[in-house]
Amino acid sequence: MKLLPIATLAALAAPFLEVTAAQYTISSPVPANDVFEAYVSYSIEFSSFPDFAGNNSNPNTFSNNLLDNIKHITGVKPYIRVGGNTQDYALYDASLPIALNGTFDPKRSEDYPTTIFIGPSYFESYNTFRGVKYSHGFNLGLGGNNSAGWQTLLDTVPLACKALSGKLYLWGYGNEPDLFSTSAQGPVRPITWNEREYVWQWLNGTRVIKTLIQEHCPELATEENYGYLAPSHAGVGNRLKAPAAWAAGVNTDKNVKLFSTHNYISGATSPGVTLQGTLMNHTVTRRSVDAHVTEYNAIKAIDPSAPPMIFGETNSLYNQGRPGLSNTFGAALWVADFNLYSASVGFKRVQMHMGTNYRYQSWQPLTTNLSPKGTKAPYYGNILSAFVTSAYCSLSTISHIPLSNPHLESAYAAYKNAGALLTRIAVLNLRNYNTTVDGAGLVPVPTPPVRGSQTYNFTVPDYYKPGYSVGVRRLLANGSDAITGITWDGYSYNYELDLGKPVRLGNVTYGEKVQVGEDGQVSVQVWDSSAVVLDFEKCW
Ligand SMILES: *[C@@H]1O[C@H](CO)[C@@H](O)[C@H](O)[C@H]1NC(C)=O
Ligand SMILES: *[C@@H]1O[C@H](CO)[C@@H](O)[C@H](O)[C@H]1NC(C)=O
Ligand SMILES: *[C@@H]1O[C@H](CO)[C@@H](O)[C@H](O)[C@H]1NC(C)=O
Ligand SMILES: *[C@@H]1O[C@H](CO)[C@@H](O)[C@H](O)[C@H]1NC(C)=O
Ligand SMILES: *[C@@H]1O[C@H](CO)[C@@H](O)[C@H](O)[C@H]1NC(C)=O
Ligand SMILES: *[C@@H]1O[C@H](CO)[C@@H](O)[C@H](O)[C@H]1NC(C)=O
Ligand SMILES: *[C@@H]1O[C@H](CO)[C@@H](O)[C@H](O)[C@H]1NC(C)=O
Ligand SMILES: *[C@@H]1O[C@H](CO)[C@@H](O)[C@H](O)[C@H]1NC(C)=O
Ligand SMILES: *[C@@H]1O[C@H](CO)[C@@H](O)[C@H](O)[C@H]1NC(C)=O
Repeated sequence: MKLLPIATLAALAAPFLEVTAAQYTISSPVPANDVFEAYVSYSIEFSSFPDFAGNNSNPNTFSNNLLDNIKHITGVKPYIRVGGNTQDYALYDASLPIALNGTFDPKRSEDYPTTIFIGPSYFESYNTFRGVKYSHGFNLGLGGNNSAGWQTLLDTVPLACKALSGKLYLWGYGNEPDLFSTSAQGPVRPITWNEREYVWQWLNGTRVIKTLIQEHCPELATEENYGYLAPSHAGVGNRLKAPAAWAAGVNTDKNVKLFSTHNYISGATSPGVTLQGTLMNHTVTRRSVDAHVTEYNAIKAIDPSAPPMIFGETNSLYNQGRPGLSNTFGAALWVADFNLYSASVGFKRVQMHMGTNYRYQSWQPLTTNLSPKGTKAPYYGNILSAFVTSAYCSLSTISHIPLSNPHLESAYAAYKNAGALLTRIAVLNLRNYNTTVDGAGLVPVPTPPVRGSQTYNFTVPDYYKPGYSVGVRRLLANGSDAITGITWDGYSYNYELDLGKPVRLGNVTYGEKVQVGEDGQVSVQVWDSSAVVLDFEKCW
């Protein structure tokens, strides 16, 4: 048993136990599959967008600070997709004096309104974050169902395109149409709804959108600027399937610029869901992501020119997450594992979903009677993922490094220069270590148990000579169930410290270094329920 000097890790109160050590070899060069800029991006629930962004007279500077933190790491702000279930409930009311009037129906959802009117000032929220590219989601759910829905499309295309001039990422038209006839929040299509009808309505609507954009915002109607994230299905196993939509001609007009799919690992109230078994389990994460790769390969078989693949909306547990799971440090480690694994199998961008009061949100943008304004644990997983995939120096390629325990640990290597130069190694030790009595992050146990650790030795490419100094940056918290007190490389981004701007804490170690040994190896100890990034690149 090797105890670490407590002084070097003051934020971790328990003694440490070295359990095992293992040796791995990092190959280089690797085949390059670079991620896009802003790999770590967000999806914001349509009805919550005014809360997250604010408006002209009241911009949300806290949200902006958190987006800027990621920009400081990656060189660009995260992209923001505005959409989700509520995009398909929103009707336009030109006389509404406020941005959004949402009415909740607890029988349909306790977390978001299901009767929604937006007014002209909704579109002000696209002005508040400088340098963000947006996707705006148009209403297909009601648009193809009733005349008010169709009128909303005609009314909002000009408003959205004017608001997004110079800031457009891509358009959305319909959220999760694979669930339109079966949605638990109320179906908007008959049970006979199928891929053929979906494609007909998609083409019918997008052609009208294009005409309106040509008329009102011609600069956005060019080949380069006009396009969609689609089909934005909820998953791979629903009644409508993405490969069938492709075969039925959803990309007939060649305007689907990114193949967008959605994913959740499991559900907030699904039986048997636990932190260790569901989120802090690399095998579960891989299986969930791999199913989308299989689906994408089926689309590529139909159409070799199909566009690149992204997760357009994703997070841990559907139905907005569960306290004690989706809002914990363990979920932050899941965010990192999910993002890095997805990058390693070909996803080009991941848009983590959130909404006001959601339990898996990266931050709560304002105080409500359900949750105080604040930075939440998953944000720290966004930060680590941004650091590893950062395209600051040049675009990154991520490769997965299989470790000896397939479930409870994972590692990734990042490269630049088309896979030629190793820049970073990330190691996630997903073994559970919880330190609160209730397991919900609130009341600490009187005497924390001993915290285990693993030592990982990596033989690195020989262009890193013995003695080469490698930075060690850690993602730390008291335990997997902690919901606050989380640090990345010694920084806290908590709202209460400096409105979400980085604050380096005096009581957490940072600035650690390890050297490449005579044997060509670097060695790093990683505490249970924590992550580390070895930084070979002098970029920051
Ligand atoms: C470290 O400092 C922060 C900010 O001052 C404080 O909130 C936290 O409790 C401290 N942690 C420990 C373990 O002392
Ligand atoms: C890992 O590296 C350390 C330090 O260089 C060394 O003492 C240890 O023997 C190595 N372990 C393995 C399994 O290679
Ligand atoms: C801007 O936001 C503030 C604060 O939420 C609100 O009071 C105001 O009505 C909003 N302005 C418009 C034009 O919606
Ligand atoms: C908001 O919508 C509800 C129900 O649809 C309606 O009763 C209420 O008058 C609306 N409020 C405003 C300010 O338009
Ligand atoms: C198809 O487009 C026409 C206008 O060109 C519109 O009247 C109709 O409502 C649309 N139908 C659907 C299902 O989108
Ligand atoms: C509109 O939605 C209802 C369910 O709310 C469904 O029964 C009806 O068939 C839909 N109409 C169309 C044209 O899809
Ligand atoms: C992780 O998931 C795999 C696959 O479902 C399962 O076999 C394994 O027991 C899980 N491990 C833990 C610790 O829950
Ligand atoms: C830690 O979590 C496990 C389940 O994940 C639970 O059985 C155990 O009681 C928790 N320990 C503490 C100290 O909360
Ligand atoms: C972390 O543990 C230390 C030592 O037990 C304690 O002082 C601190 O309050 C804990 N931090 C949080 C956020 O629970």
